[in-house]
Amino acid sequence: MVTSLVIHSYRGGTGKSTTTANLSVLLAALGKNVATIDMDITSPGLHVIYNVSSQIMKYTLNDYIYGKCAIEDAVIDLTQYLKLPRGKLYFLGSSMRPEDIVKVIREGYSEGFFRHIAKSLKEIYDMEYVIFDTHPGLNEDTLLAVMSSDVSLLLSRMDKQDLYGSYITTQILKKFGRISYVILNMVPPHLADNVDLPSEVSGIIDATVIGVLPFYEEVLAHRSKGVFCIHHPKHPYSSKMLALAKKLIELTTTERATIDLIRR
Ligand SMILES: Nc1ncnc2c1ncn2[C@@H]1O[C@H](COP(=O)(O)OP(=O)(O)O)[C@@H](O)[C@H]1O
Ligand SMILES: [Mg+2]
Repeated sequence: MVTSLVIHSYRGGTGKSTTTANLSVLLAALGKNVATIDMDITSPGLHVIYNVSSQIMKYTLNDYIYGKCAIEDAVIDLTQYLKLPRGKLYFLGSSMRPEDIVKVIREGYSEGFFRHIAKSLKEIYDMEYVIFDTHPGLNEDTLLAVMSSDVSLLLSRMDKQDLYGSYITTQILKKFGRISYVILNMVPPHLADNVDLPSEVSGIIDATVIGVLPFYEEVLAHRSKGVFCIHHPKHPYSSKMLALAKKLIELTTTERATIDLIRR
């Protein structure tokens, strides 16, 4: 069974792409078959973190959407490239060409797009996790991604604007019958140590906080030059991300069972 996850946030720069890349590498390191898809079509960035050049990225998600290539042409196997010892990691990048970006903004995605991608990747690559990295805010495409995915992860900083926006987001999603799990990122270190923080914030934004990632100078200083946890496997950020990956496997296994039960 494939589980689709969407990583989103109300505001920009919350660490969606960084989280997507690190979480995916660690899910692969835990033996999973993972695909990450850059759905941030207006400002794609995952390819930078994965260090995938346009020479390697011959075809993109945009080409696939408009029937210019098969899905296999756009999917890049990063397992060897990133020297991952276990599991599999694939990547579907978004085009950086202005005309491609404009076309997708104008025309958008079809409703069945996200489920179709996850299903195709399961059939061809036996994918277990398909992770969509999105654009901030609840524009139509992100909403569609959230609605069509099995689990959604809402990233939020501790900034009041983020928390308020995250509350609004969870309320909107509830109206559509969707629940987001929350990851607090870039949390000021003195707040991150408070064991009551997850339950306090869960109460404020009316959604369960499943992870707290402190702000680390080293992550910022890394400047998206590669996936941080590969370069610094012993750093506390990597340990916390590994714990989050394990929690996610646990959560999605339970969630999966519920989804299957509902769909049966
Ligand atoms: N926990 C963290 N501590 C410090 N810096 C972080 C952390 N998480 C992300 N960053 C940095 O924040 C910036 C924005 O992250 P990015 O993943 O590009 O956000 P988004 O995809 O939401 O726009 C990047 O410079 C990234 O390195
Ligand atoms: Mg991003």
